[in-house]
Amino acid sequence: MGLATLIVIGCIAALGATDGPSRGNVWPKPRSVVKFHNDGFVIVSPNSFRFNVTHYKCSTLDDALVRYYKFLVLERQAGFTERIHFRTSTNDVPLGQVHIDPNATYRGKLETLEVELMAPCEHYPYFGMDEHYELRIDSPDLPYAAKLVSHSIWGILRGLETFVQLAAPSADGTALHMSSCMISDYPRFSHRGLLIDTARHFIPLETLYTLVDGMEASKLNTFHWHIVDDQSFPYQSSTFPELSDKGAYNPLSHVYTQNNVKALIEYCRIRGIRVIAEFDTPGHTRSWGDSHPELLTVCYDETGKPKPILGPMDPTKESTYKFIDKFFAELAEVFPDKYMHVGGDEVIKDCWKSNPDITKYMKMHNFTGYNQLESFYVDKAVQTIYALNKSTIVWQEVFDNGGTRLDRNTVVHIWKGNYPEELRKITAANYMTLLSSCWYLDHLGVDWKVMYKCDPQNFEGTPKQKRLVLGGEACMWSEVVDFTNVIPRVFPRASAAAERLWSDQTVKDIADASNRLDEFRCRLVRRGIHAEPSRGPGYCPGEIF
Ligand SMILES: *[C@@H]1O[C@H](CO)[C@@H](O)[C@H](O)[C@H]1NC(C)=O
Ligand SMILES: *[C@@H]1O[C@H](CO)[C@@H](O)[C@H](O)[C@H]1NC(C)=O
Ligand SMILES: *[C@@H]1O[C@H](CO)[C@@H](O)[C@H](O)[C@H]1NC(C)=O
Ligand SMILES: *[C@@H]1O[C@H](CO)[C@@H](O)[C@H](O)[C@H]1NC(C)=O
Repeated sequence: MGLATLIVIGCIAALGATDGPSRGNVWPKPRSVVKFHNDGFVIVSPNSFRFNVTHYKCSTLDDALVRYYKFLVLERQAGFTERIHFRTSTNDVPLGQVHIDPNATYRGKLETLEVELMAPCEHYPYFGMDEHYELRIDSPDLPYAAKLVSHSIWGILRGLETFVQLAAPSADGTALHMSSCMISDYPRFSHRGLLIDTARHFIPLETLYTLVDGMEASKLNTFHWHIVDDQSFPYQSSTFPELSDKGAYNPLSHVYTQNNVKALIEYCRIRGIRVIAEFDTPGHTRSWGDSHPELLTVCYDETGKPKPILGPMDPTKESTYKFIDKFFAELAEVFPDKYMHVGGDEVIKDCWKSNPDITKYMKMHNFTGYNQLESFYVDKAVQTIYALNKSTIVWQEVFDNGGTRLDRNTVVHIWKGNYPEELRKITAANYMTLLSSCWYLDHLGVDWKVMYKCDPQNFEGTPKQKRLVLGGEACMWSEVVDFTNVIPRVFPRASAAAERLWSDQTVKDIADASNRLDEFRCRLVRRGIHAEPSRGPGYCPGEIF
């Protein structure tokens, strides 16, 4: 699929109003859109519309067609409701009057979308998978017809999302308009993630599914599951079931069973979304100690007496490594992705400093500082994961502390401030990196525009260094969110990060993005994803309660 042109223009003509929502625009913005026939459009009626699969097929594709047909019907319903009930706000273009002169632009009915997958389906998505697709609607070589082509099932999934987002309800609410156009599209970054913390508050499986639905709509492709932490251990291990029996908030209701985990991985897989599990160590492990206190460091008071408090994992005991070897081997089986996130952030050293056995061990090994002790642990954890034929992602502290033998395939994940400098340093050392610093969704008051402006390649470095930036992740830490409020906190702000990670670097017009995000957010709401409003007064077309 050649990229004939890189001219980026809206598939639907710009509306007169500068602050009205867009209609039939795609979020994240495709790399290249070319319109035909003087802003021509076709009409799609869900009553007669069909997908026509002409080459390879598989269950992943079958499922996607069912899903996307449903989304098309939802758009059609919105148009129908809108027709009857809603007043036209002063600064808005009435829905259905997008194509002001139907005679000048109406081209005909679109009955089918031909779906041409050029290669057999791959089973599981992976880093660097091909997400490129080409979508033609009533183009000169395909008048009154439409075709989606990709060399990969993942590209087909992204293209179906785009196809449905092009739909805008017609004036009478009975059908959908779609511009005559050709779209050639592929992501700027391969790793476009959302981190969800399920330990500070438990997030039920149904809510996780809804989050994944929002990721699919936003073309995010990596679900980073920060599954356990100090506060709780909801993962039900088959090797060590006592971890969640003792460490979960409730061992019966606030756990992810093996079946739950499998179901979520499958839910993500068929949407072209990877699942990367993070079992953070050696810090953030208090809940592990509820069942396995021997893993953690005993803290001592000033007088040298043990306190009833446990610190980070004890890196000086052989039994700690025996345990993680066995546990990580289970995780390597359960989570099919090539990458495991090892964590390694925010290790608080006071407890290690207070413990006389650790002091003795360090003297014996000639360790000069506690960072060296930390590196000693992380090094062993990382080697364990390499031995399981997996690659690792680590939080930036592991790189910052130095001393850990990081394999060239290790990805360093940046979360702290001054990230341009950190990006420069990590890539100068020839490591791959991911950025999250500017996409902390738990930071309230940081609106989507701030997140939208953050560019992970905006640092001083050579083109080779820039290429070591694999992408980034929006992070939802769950100290103050649970099933009641996590969805609107994540969306649509995570979608702002998603456009930054997908679209061309030159796409940064805030006014245009604001109009498109408004439309996109309403699409999420129609799909049952309760994304919060992205800007001031208004309503979603067709919303009804
Ligand atoms: C599906 O597409 C193929 C190839 O373009 C065409 O020959 C066939 O008639 C189409 N089938 C339907 C039902 O539209
Ligand atoms: C537009 O088309 C409709 C039917 O196709 C026709 O009745 C009408 O006269 C046309 N209007 C103009 C201004 O050409
Ligand atoms: C620690 O240093 C001493 C003195 O330099 C040396 O004899 C000893 O072998 C070292 N121990 C280790 C474990 O490296
Ligand atoms: C290691 O993983 C790769 C895929 O990432 C696979 O092709 C290879 O067969 C694996 N090797 C072993 C020994 O399991």
